[in-house]
Amino acid sequence: MEKVKISNNVYIPMPMTILGTKVNGNDNYMAVGWICRINANPPMLAMGIGTHHYSLEGIMENKEFSINFPGESILKQTDYVGLFSGAKTDKSTIFNSFDGSLKNAPLIKECGLNLACTLVESIKLPTNTLIIGEIKEAYCNSEFVKSNTILYKEMLAFFLTMPDNNYWSFGEPIGKAWSIGKELIIN
Ligand SMILES: Cc1cc2nc3c(=O)[nH]c(=O)nc-3n(C[C@H](O)[C@H](O)[C@H](O)COP(=O)(O)O)c2cc1C
Repeated sequence: MEKVKISNNVYIPMPMTILGTKVNGNDNYMAVGWICRINANPPMLAMGIGTHHYSLEGIMENKEFSINFPGESILKQTDYVGLFSGAKTDKSTIFNSFDGSLKNAPLIKECGLNLACTLVESIKLPTNTLIIGEIKEAYCNSEFVKSNTILYKEMLAFFLTMPDNNYWSFGEPIGKAWSIGKELIIN
């Protein structure tokens, strides 16, 4: 097998989400792919937000935000809120929102899964700000939850790869995690 050395500017596959914030009293939405779960208990996630993004003002001001998982039916709207800044374009009417108990974390009705988060910590990196949030409340469309498992494939959740900038849908499951590896145990 031949290996080629490639640029260190590598992006890994990402789930596509939409960040919801309240900025200067108005709902704002922003496409976010640089996000992952980072703590087991309490449940925490982290994301890298460009330091000049309008959404960041809302997070710092209110210490609350939402993370929403769109389905393929709102692919264009998801992309749109990643193309234009709330600083110049009012994005508040792109989606319908509902409130959980956090009043500065607008949750998107059109998204199958909604997480209401509080800010735990923010760390300034060279170009982005690492936002660590605690998931305080989660809402899911009833048809997309079964035995406490979220049905992401049925939700038509999608992924992002860069720098080809493609959105990808779910494929088929190929094995059970924390299980299939046991088949290599000898005896
Ligand atoms: C597919 C996609 C994914 C994106 N992911 C991120 C991200 O994870 N972090 C980030 O800072 N910007 C990301 N962006 C860029 C912001 O969504 C974009 O700059 C947006 O206009 C910022 O909105 P705001 O200024 O209203 O906060 C992404 C854009 C797209 C199209």
